[in-house]
Amino acid sequence: MTAPTLTGALELHHVCAGYGKVAVLHDIDLVVPDHGILALLGPNGAGKSTLLRVATGRTQPTSGRVVLRGKDVTGRSPERLARTGLCSVPEGRAVFPNLSVTDNLRMWTYRPGLNRKDVEEQAFARFPRLKERRRQLAGRLSGGEQQMLAMSRALTANPDLLLLDEISMGLAPVVAAELFGLVRQIADDGTPVLLVEQFARTALEIADSVSVMSQGRIRVTGSPDEVRDRVLETYLHAGASQNPASSPSM
Ligand SMILES: Nc1ncnc2c1ncn2[C@@H]1O[C@H](COP(=O)(O)OP(=O)(O)OP(=O)(O)O)[C@@H](O)[C@H]1O
Ligand SMILES: [Mg+2]
Repeated sequence: MTAPTLTGALELHHVCAGYGKVAVLHDIDLVVPDHGILALLGPNGAGKSTLLRVATGRTQPTSGRVVLRGKDVTGRSPERLARTGLCSVPEGRAVFPNLSVTDNLRMWTYRPGLNRKDVEEQAFARFPRLKERRRQLAGRLSGGEQQMLAMSRALTANPDLLLLDEISMGLAPVVAAELFGLVRQIADDGTPVLLVEQFARTALEIADSVSVMSQGRIRVTGSPDEVRDRVLETYLHAGASQNPASSPSM
């Protein structure tokens, strides 16, 4: 028997998954290292969000294994995985638009051992802007602020691993850059991050390692410098409309 040579915060081994009869992920092998940021890049429809769905238990793989901190967690429910320390900010800002910032934070104090005051304190310490707007309806926050709120939810549980899906979506480049700076800080504070991005330039700047996906397969993994050319190539093959060079955040 051969032991796996790599261990990470999260590992996918030979994962296949899809929706009904449609296969989306094909034989995915991915290791999210124990430290730092792994950026997962790829054009629209590559399967990035589906991969995160599998990692968080929202979609079950048809074959393969999901391993969290060395433990096989294949088949576990999203709730159970969240309790084990895996937190994700899914695509689209996961905030309740008709609740205030404070009430949004209160909704997320479900984890045992968390109380409302601590959650608020942590969130406001990390994102002072949320404190100024704590009584405002979340739906009236700017896109970047909503993303901060969604991230503070994930972070209040002090996760072992943070999964972020396109946090820069729809944001002005300067706001996206600010969020990426915060992600860098979170990683430097010791939480490993899997950062899914469609637009690549900023992600390449802050990531420690990068995996590039297209058509449901991981095409290459390496340091940002090693994969930079391959990223461009993958996006260009996906069509001119997805050329990252034409994107404001690329
Ligand atoms: N709920 C669903 N039911 C059926 N097919 C789906 C579903 N969600 C995604 N798909 C399909 O799976 C494929 C991969 O989608 P996915 O959302 O994982 O891509 P992505 O890389 O996250 O793309 P994007 O950059 O646009 O967010 C696409 O062809 C998509 O149409
Ligand atoms: Mg997606």
